[in-house]
Amino acid sequence: MIALWRIVFWLGLVATSAGESNWAVIIAGSRGFINYRHQADVCHAYHVVRRNGIPAENVILMTYGDAVDSVDNPFPGQLFNKPTPDGVAGYDVNRACSPSYTGEDVTADNFLAVLKGDNKTTEGKPVLRSTKEDRVFVYFADHGGVGLVAMPAGDPVYAQDLIDALRHMSTNGMYKELVFYMEACESGSMFEGLLPEDANIYATTAANSQESSYGTYCGMESSVNGTLIGSCLGDLYSVNFLENSDEPSMFHTETLDSQFALVKNETSKSHAQKFGTLSMGTDHIEWFLGAVGFPSVEGGEFGDQAAAVARIPTPKNGVNSRDIKLHDLRYQRSQLAGTGRTREADNLDRQIAEEMAMRFHSAKVFGEISTRTSGGAPVPPLTGVFTEHSCLKAASTAVIASCGPWNDFSLTYVRSLATLCQAGYPALQIQAAAEAVCRVDV
Ligand SMILES: *[C@@H]1O[C@H](CO)[C@@H](O)[C@H](O)[C@H]1NC(C)=O
Ligand SMILES: *[C@@H]1O[C@H](CO)[C@@H](O)[C@H](O)[C@H]1NC(C)=O
Ligand SMILES: *[C@@H]1O[C@H](CO)[C@@H](O)[C@H](O)[C@H]1NC(C)=O
Repeated sequence: MIALWRIVFWLGLVATSAGESNWAVIIAGSRGFINYRHQADVCHAYHVVRRNGIPAENVILMTYGDAVDSVDNPFPGQLFNKPTPDGVAGYDVNRACSPSYTGEDVTADNFLAVLKGDNKTTEGKPVLRSTKEDRVFVYFADHGGVGLVAMPAGDPVYAQDLIDALRHMSTNGMYKELVFYMEACESGSMFEGLLPEDANIYATTAANSQESSYGTYCGMESSVNGTLIGSCLGDLYSVNFLENSDEPSMFHTETLDSQFALVKNETSKSHAQKFGTLSMGTDHIEWFLGAVGFPSVEGGEFGDQAAAVARIPTPKNGVNSRDIKLHDLRYQRSQLAGTGRTREADNLDRQIAEEMAMRFHSAKVFGEISTRTSGGAPVPPLTGVFTEHSCLKAASTAVIASCGPWNDFSLTYVRSLATLCQAGYPALQIQAAAEAVCRVDV
């Protein structure tokens, strides 16, 4: 398979490059005000690529889009990806942010179809129409687990399906070079051992295959002109590349490798990784996050204030993506101490207790699934590169069917399924265990 891919790639190289264009696919995989940050990250990325010359019809943005109109949003109609001091207006990334897919249309099937240029699956909604002359930029922000990233509606995207979609793009001449930036917990596992080195794809991830990624500008750091947003404004790896790209002098000089070095250094809570065709590292970021040869234009719909706000020095702390809900609830609760607002305090105490109970329940369920699958035999921990992606997809699908969908926290236990798969337990055995553990009144 890889050999065939290599031949197709070499044929692609021989072609002369005339009429090159740029394309971008930008996607947030979550929903809810609690995940404000992903929706702000992707609208910010939309501003970067539009400001730098990728035409609207070549940008496919997918975002559930419910944070901006949430009753919890203190600035209805606006989204901010960076805090500002009192007296300084924030940079509203929702302005002119124009998604092609929103709400329940943001699914794994649609995302993969967009990449493959398959508008039958998307029922005519926009898909990539790029050619082998073109450069494609893909950016994904959300939660993840070993070998999968979540979607706001329906099934997650599994690593093998993503790699198959990229292979389809290569085989069908849908790009000259492709850059993929991915923010998610354990995002390294989406490419590690899977992405070939000769496919002209340069991928970077917020985290390695064994760790969380981190939200930033959370709690008391989420203040925009004196008003607390009450949800994290961004993700650490994402805002690091986005704020760097907002600076015109950087945008027009940096290479993929120099931006990666900067982002890796500033993303201090996790270990950003790169995969694929690393020789592309000398390519310029403006060839992907913008349109080749497009001049720097400050101001206008996608420009004014972006650089100015990016330049405001703001410390970036990180909160483990899986702990953000609890962190948020506890922060809100701490704000109520001594205010006498007992109704709200009781409500928050109840939500904190529910979150703790959910965590305890998840630990118990996945512990039991593991024990039942192995018949109590000790299961060796997952070390090295995970390879059993088909087993994982089948096991995860079975767990969703029997135990309900993954949530932002329970995704941490995808690892326990991956561990069983890597130890050689067949997916059918994991399925039977999940059915037995999660069966309700039978
Ligand atoms: C900041 O907020 C204050 C109080 O709401 C408002 O009066 C002021 O116009 C805002 N400043 C900017 C620059 O948006
Ligand atoms: C898919 O795109 C092609 C080419 O633009 C178009 O002719 C066709 O009608 C589209 N299919 C659907 C289902 O909209
Ligand atoms: C890495 O980050 C630290 C802290 O943010 C900064 O002081 C240092 O200059 C950075 N180094 C490079 C090479 O960017």
